[in-house]
Amino acid sequence: MQPRKIMASNSNLSDVCDHHHITTPSVMSLNLVLLSIIFETLIVSVATQINLETLGKAVQRTTHAGYTSANRAIDGPANNKWNDGCSATADGDIYAWWGLQLPAVAHMTTIIIYYRENSASRMKEFRLYLENGTADESSKSGLCYTDLGKAGLPNITQNITCNMLAKNMYFVNRRNHANCYVELCYVAIYGCFKGTWSTNCTEPCPATCIDNYCYPQNGSCVWGCDKHNCFNSKCDINTGACIEGCMVLRAGQYCNKYNLASNGTATQHQPKPNHPASLAIDGNRTNGLCSMTTGLGSYLQVDTGSLSVVTTVYFTFGDATVTTGEDIVYCSNTSDSWVNGILLHKGERPTKNINVYAVCRYIIYLPPAASGVDVCEIEIGGCPLGRYGDNCEKFCHCNGPCDLDTGNCTSGCLDGWIGYRCDIVCANGNFGSKCSRHCSSNCLNQSCNHVSGECTGGCNEGWEGYNCTKECDVGYFGINCSQTCFGCISNQCDKVNGVCSNWSGCKPGFVKGQNCNQECEDWKFGKDCAKECYCRTIPCNKFNGHCSNGECAKGWHGETCDNGKL
Ligand SMILES: *[C@@H]1O[C@H](CO)[C@@H](O)[C@H](O)[C@H]1NC(C)=O
Ligand SMILES: *[C@@H]1O[C@H](CO)[C@@H](O)[C@H](O)[C@H]1NC(C)=O
Ligand SMILES: *[C@@H]1O[C@H](CO)[C@@H](O)[C@H](O)[C@H]1NC(C)=O
Repeated sequence: MQPRKIMASNSNLSDVCDHHHITTPSVMSLNLVLLSIIFETLIVSVATQINLETLGKAVQRTTHAGYTSANRAIDGPANNKWNDGCSATADGDIYAWWGLQLPAVAHMTTIIIYYRENSASRMKEFRLYLENGTADESSKSGLCYTDLGKAGLPNITQNITCNMLAKNMYFVNRRNHANCYVELCYVAIYGCFKGTWSTNCTEPCPATCIDNYCYPQNGSCVWGCDKHNCFNSKCDINTGACIEGCMVLRAGQYCNKYNLASNGTATQHQPKPNHPASLAIDGNRTNGLCSMTTGLGSYLQVDTGSLSVVTTVYFTFGDATVTTGEDIVYCSNTSDSWVNGILLHKGERPTKNINVYAVCRYIIYLPPAASGVDVCEIEIGGCPLGRYGDNCEKFCHCNGPCDLDTGNCTSGCLDGWIGYRCDIVCANGNFGSKCSRHCSSNCLNQSCNHVSGECTGGCNEGWEGYNCTKECDVGYFGINCSQTCFGCISNQCDKVNGVCSNWSGCKPGFVKGQNCNQECEDWKFGKDCAKECYCRTIPCNKFNGHCSNGECAKGWHGETCDNGKL
């Protein structure tokens, strides 16, 4: 960036507190050349992370007139020249600061400051704070550096190691009189945002690092590693890896994946006696307890039990293992066959951790040599298809696999579900693909199964069937066609309210207005249930008045026992 000339009243600022700093210009510039050479080399050797300044916002307590905004300190160039552009706070302050505010918490390793040349006295006793909030001089935990102000003036270029976790960095000055300035020509802040490391901060911290926090320099966990998923509770603070293996149902270097092998079944082709396949999925990586196959064409297969999304295969081999040749790993939907499978890995021994993405049921490992290979453990990280979460305990309803961490669907939802995770059931009244179909208007309350559209709550009056599109049969009416109108003379009734068609009265044996849907009470029969029956013990047939077995009450006779006493 081409620096702009500073038009501000440079002279106003120059002689406030540098009374004792008098050097001839030529000696001064020679010193500067030497200084910048020294620091250039220093910078190259320490700047191992990204310069966070480009990702933050520069701020300062006050701003001096002219082109001295806070941004000047991060715009470059990296030198001490006032005329190349420096930030500066206003006249008349007794307290001043400049800060860089980042969008997220970062581990800041090294801070390089180019102060204004010939103005070292103004930075005397400066302090550097790394804080999460606003500039706070009382913060003890945030204080990274104090210029002691004893051994003469500070260097105008400083290289300060902080190694602290914070969101913001502040360069702070305070004076007894109103002659306090912060003038920064360039500031570089090296580090990585929390959760990342390496030269370009592109590596994620090991998954087991507590609070996802590792040193930007080497990726080792700052606050230790979470060992609760590790076998024997042992994790390596430097790598975050579990040392002796994983707890049951866990897989991978950090044991942070669900282990599809734990509930699976292992089989061998050409097993070696006393080295059963089950030893490869028993959760114990220990050498000696290993499965082994032997001879050309041998292999080890793990059946995960169902279609699964496989993201990691992690191998632990034993001592007896040959050291050369190729390991081959397939993912297949067919037991004991990989011709139609997906090649997950093919490479020189020994294979340790392979990160993959495939949907299949069987993982098949083909060892390189006829002499056999001992597989102490094969851990298969992933989730059964349709599940996600740390323990694959959550269900996604995607049209295909979902993201195993978030549950987000990439290929749309199954019928009846919507949302990023396809975990939202269609609103009442809708069903099917994208919930775009409407339940049949004949469904009771207009509600139906969100997937199939079946009117599970029943049908409105006059309708029946899976989605209530079938009209009631003759003689039936009402909700789900569950009521009958067998008493209508026409044998037909309104399918909704059951009123007999062409009503001219009911069939004998029936009453109840125009619906004719109530049989005569006991001991009555005939048209309008007007007749009485005179049977001996059991009421008569309601339609024709016949007594069972013709047993009339004492004193009555005839087919319907309605002939008077003999
Ligand atoms: C800033 O916040 C983080 C937590 O997000 C905390 O660990 C760190 O110690 C804080 N930094 C300071 C300087 O207080
Ligand atoms: C100041 O710079 C000199 C070399 O120019 C160096 O020896 C000294 O350690 C520096 N002091 C500080 C505090 O950086
Ligand atoms: C296994 O079957 C599933 C579902 O049909 C398919 O998506 C997947 O690609 C198959 N995997 C292999 C390895 O053939």
